[in-house]
Amino acid sequence: MDPLSNKWIIHLLVCCVFVGVGCSSVDKKIYVNLNYTVSCVRLLNATHQIGCQSSLSGNSPLFTRSIMMKLKSSSRRVAGVAVVAPNTNLGEAFSPHTTCPNENTGVYSETYDPALANCNATVWNPLGNGLSYEEFDFPIFSLKDDNDTQVIRQCYLDHNLPVNGTPQYPLCAMELYSHMFAVTDTATCMRRSDTDFSINPEMVCDPLGDYNVWGSTRPVNNTAKGHKMGESVVIAAARLDSRSFFFDIAPGAESAVSGFVTLLAAAHALRDIIQEAPPNRTILYTFFQGETFDYIGSSRMVYEMENDQFAVDLDNIHSVLEVGQVGLRNDSRLWLHTDPVSRKNDSVNKEVVELIANLKAAATNLSVAPDEPGVSQPLPPSSFQRFLRARSIPGVVLEDHKSEFTNKFYESMYDNEEYLNLSYPPNLTPEEKMEHVTERAKALAEVATLVARALYKQAGGAQNLLDKIQADPQIVTQMLYGFLVRTNNTWFQQLIPSDFVSHLTNGPPNLYVGAIQQSSEPTILVQFLLANLTGSTINITRENCQNQKEDETDKESKHIYSYWWIQGAAPPNSTEREGYCVRSSARLSKAVSPAFDLKQFTSKDYSTWAESRWKPIKGRIFLVASHELEMLTLGVGVGILVTSLLLTYFISAKADIIFSSGREPANATY
Ligand SMILES: *[C@@H]1O[C@H](CO)[C@@H](O)[C@H](O)[C@H]1NC(C)=O
Ligand SMILES: *[C@@H]1O[C@H](CO)[C@@H](O)[C@H](O)[C@H]1NC(C)=O
Ligand SMILES: *[C@@H]1O[C@H](CO)[C@@H](O)[C@H](O)[C@H]1NC(C)=O
Ligand SMILES: *[C@@H]1O[C@H](CO)[C@@H](O)[C@H](O)[C@H]1NC(C)=O
Ligand SMILES: *[C@@H]1O[C@H](CO)[C@@H](O)[C@H](O)[C@H]1NC(C)=O
Ligand SMILES: *[C@@H]1O[C@H](CO)[C@@H](O)[C@H](O)[C@H]1NC(C)=O
Ligand SMILES: *[C@@H]1O[C@H](CO)[C@@H](O)[C@H](O)[C@H]1NC(C)=O
Ligand SMILES: *[C@@H]1O[C@H](CO)[C@@H](O)[C@H](O)[C@H]1NC(C)=O
Ligand SMILES: *[C@@H]1O[C@H](CO)[C@@H](O)[C@H](O)[C@H]1NC(C)=O
Ligand SMILES: *[C@@H]1O[C@H](CO)[C@@H](O)[C@H](O)[C@H]1NC(C)=O
Ligand SMILES: *[C@@H]1O[C@H](CO)[C@@H](O)[C@H](O)[C@H]1NC(C)=O
Ligand SMILES: *[C@@H]1O[C@H](CO)[C@@H](O)[C@H](O)[C@H]1NC(C)=O
Repeated sequence: MDPLSNKWIIHLLVCCVFVGVGCSSVDKKIYVNLNYTVSCVRLLNATHQIGCQSSLSGNSPLFTRSIMMKLKSSSRRVAGVAVVAPNTNLGEAFSPHTTCPNENTGVYSETYDPALANCNATVWNPLGNGLSYEEFDFPIFSLKDDNDTQVIRQCYLDHNLPVNGTPQYPLCAMELYSHMFAVTDTATCMRRSDTDFSINPEMVCDPLGDYNVWGSTRPVNNTAKGHKMGESVVIAAARLDSRSFFFDIAPGAESAVSGFVTLLAAAHALRDIIQEAPPNRTILYTFFQGETFDYIGSSRMVYEMENDQFAVDLDNIHSVLEVGQVGLRNDSRLWLHTDPVSRKNDSVNKEVVELIANLKAAATNLSVAPDEPGVSQPLPPSSFQRFLRARSIPGVVLEDHKSEFTNKFYESMYDNEEYLNLSYPPNLTPEEKMEHVTERAKALAEVATLVARALYKQAGGAQNLLDKIQADPQIVTQMLYGFLVRTNNTWFQQLIPSDFVSHLTNGPPNLYVGAIQQSSEPTILVQFLLANLTGSTINITRENCQNQKEDETDKESKHIYSYWWIQGAAPPNSTEREGYCVRSSARLSKAVSPAFDLKQFTSKDYSTWAESRWKPIKGRIFLVASHELEMLTLGVGVGILVTSLLLTYFISAKADIIFSSGREPANATY
């Protein structure tokens, strides 16, 4: 018997079986991959894990705490939830954050003042439902309300709507996949990452972190760390980050952008006056990253200042002025929040009173009216609290709310451009929109003017020069456009080096701090904006600029300034951009919690938040047949298999007879 001919027949039969099954398998043809899915990720701290884990199907536009908690408690029957993010904001308030943000890592502990601890005196975010801090065993995805969702809706309407009480098969199903590796808490996961390294070099989680941005009005030697004799520094602070339930959508319009844009505009307003009539104190602009997750950025900078790892130390700090949420001013009021505990000390109180007086004096001829909320109230969640934890430093936090937040969408995806009501006239091109000065930009420019004047006075500047300080609404409107509408605009393109162009996108940046361990889009943009708005252009070669020196022999400048070759604009008669060198004091400093450097993964003083690594996030929808139909398909499949085996056996056994005449050539190919 010729074995070759035998194999050929078996081969053919197997092909038939596969084709048969392939033909009856409808679902291959109607898998629809979902293109835009954003999931909730797993996060861990010293004691808990929050966020989502993975496996299968669902659909719920009713994304509220009560519904989500019902789904959570019946989680054995819920395999996953897809949330359709509406294209316009909700009418009513929604905040998935806690009611008392960062309550355990601010200054108000039981030992500092029991009556103020845990938001006992003022609940800052009463609308918070805590959804972002729950743990879910199933994946939760957000889908943009577009053609994807239309496909899902249609599939649901066509197949899943009950006919006479019960839905008919085949049913429309959705498969969502986002596997999270990390488990239990940060200590467990960091330990696993450490010990498994030899066998399996794969980390399962990473500390949350990024970079703080800072700059100063007078050159400070950044290489010489620790105390600087004779240096007295006024810190002007704002935060850079935000979050929402889903990791990929964190616009933070009111919670972060309103504050840091105001501070950038104030820094710009101070540039010229500081060169003409320098005050004798230095103003240090700081933009903190990761503040949402137990003050990662500010706790890191304070830690470095305490340990001689930063350009100045705590002894150099004269006072702090922090710009918080200032975008939603009611009437013309702004509120100056202070810490009642440190003010019990007369010398601290004297400085605070002076800072308040400076702010009030700065408001003359402006449409803002700063006021005090009353001394018995603690500070709202703010980076300044981390400075107070280390030392009684005088300071004020500027907010648009007297007690609880005005922000109805704190740390949610609705805290966006629409909520700040940028309202552009219709039919403008993107460029025209960017240039259009909105009412919101004018209002924030007033706040920026107030901040700039108060800082100048606080740094020792002369009273009679205050009127010369004026923030530019044009710059404010361009920044609001860039950070809330699209970062890929001509202005941002001009002021960054060409290596960073790929970071720009056609939407707003995501302000979630993430675990990338390198500077993110918002960090980069704020760094180069600070450089553009406070620095100067110098006429040196590209090579020297990139080597951080002004000429071939220069060895000292790099300690004082940073140099960036930015790509600039193309002149009108050319398409080639003309780059130039910008010299500024803008720099980055690490924003990773000291808990990870100290390996104190259960720290109560420092943030311990880490993010799980995950497999690529995928979503698709398809039709499932009924159980009976599936069993029938299987039965038929098995039947065909048995028949074919019998047939093969029969043919093999009788091969001699069947193939006795027409033999194939031995070199046949299949
Ligand atoms: C960790 O996060 C959970 C959930 O928000 C919180 O209840 C707990 O207090 C946090 N643990 C620490 C040590 O901060
Ligand atoms: C909360 O504050 C009130 C007075 O303001 C005080 O009587 C009460 O003991 C405080 N609660 C806690 C838990 O400290
Ligand atoms: C979405 O669907 C509409 C009509 O159904 C179509 O005109 C449009 O091009 C689709 N958009 C995309 C991005 O596929
Ligand atoms: C997803 O994108 C692919 C190619 O870009 C397209 O063919 C497909 O129709 C899209 N899916 C949906 C649901 O829009
Ligand atoms: C800055 O500090 C470094 C290290 O202490 C020192 O070598 C350098 O000369 C200083 N440069 C200036 C301009 O003060
Ligand atoms: C700042 O300069 C003023 C005079 O312009 C002087 O009176 C004051 O003592 C100086 N302050 C510091 C901290 O050097
Ligand atoms: C604005 O302020 C007025 C009084 O000054 C108050 O009645 C009103 O409730 C405030 N509105 C908001 C949204 O806070
Ligand atoms: C008040 O604060 C100052 C500076 O922080 C400190 O030197 C002084 O001892 C404090 N006074 C009291 C009574 O605590
Ligand atoms: C940014 O916009 C420019 C046109 O101004 C375009 O060429 C480029 O592809 C855009 N980049 C991205 C990432 O969309
Ligand atoms: C800042 O950017 C603007 C617009 O691109 C440019 O005209 C200006 O020269 C820049 N300034 C500095 C100091 O880079
Ligand atoms: C820049 O420097 C070069 C050579 O040092 C000189 O030729 C050129 O005119 C300068 N450009 C400007 C704008 O000052
Ligand atoms: C472009 O314009 C500049 C000044 O406006 C001029 O110096 C240069 O020669 C022009 N280049 C070309 C190619 O026309």
